[in-house]
Amino acid sequence: MKIFIDTASIKEIKEAVSLGLIDGVTTNPSLIAKENRPAEDLLKEIATLVTGPISAEVLSLDVEGMLKEARLLTKIAKNIVIKVPLTKDGIKAVRCLAQEGIKTNTTLCFSANQALLVAKAGGNYVSPFIGRLDDISQVGMDLIRNIKTIYNNYSFKTEIIVASVRNPVHVLDAALIGADIATIPFTVIEQLIKHPLTDIGIQRFLEDSKKIPK
Ligand code: E4P
Repeated sequence: MKIFIDTASIKEIKEAVSLGLIDGVTTNPSLIAKENRPAEDLLKEIATLVTGPISAEVLSLDVEGMLKEARLLTKIAKNIVIKVPLTKDGIKAVRCLAQEGIKTNTTLCFSANQALLVAKAGGNYVSPFIGRLDDISQVGMDLIRNIKTIYNNYSFKTEIIVASVRNPVHVLDAALIGADIATIPFTVIEQLIKHPLTDIGIQRFLEDSKKIPK
């Protein structure tokens, strides 16, 4: 499973990249707003740090606006992927952008039928938001399972990005289901590394090492 980092923070991206684990980055307007600097600047800098896909979201809600923004965003760096909301206009934009050879990540996916349409439109990535489904008492991971089954049934090439990841169990389940990608916040990446028994084990080995004759 590929690991993307779900952030627009340069500090977090640098740290995660130094671990050698990062295959790509996803941003969204809320994440970019937290960084308090112009989006284009930020995306340019992210592109100097990461060679994999970097998702940048359009703000327009109409096809023409989305296409215009997408064409500008792709000028920032060749690995920019256009994040498009899962609406009627979004689906139309995905098809047009696919014809122009511009990669898309269709975001805010909350049903398997929506994901089916993304694949049929020729989308490169679809982002089902599992944490937000869990928040309203639906099992987010069931959505990933269903999309995976549908994509396998018809050999669709669209990659599933498990998004709105909130904890290490989400990552584990995504990998068990065979999702293509999980986009993970930095804090959860750190949680994946840590285990209390690892810390206790290190401590015990260090203490015992003091008893080894010199
Ligand atoms: C994914 O591309 C989104 O940026 C993100 O996963 C949304 O997560 P949230 O529901 O925690 O805001």
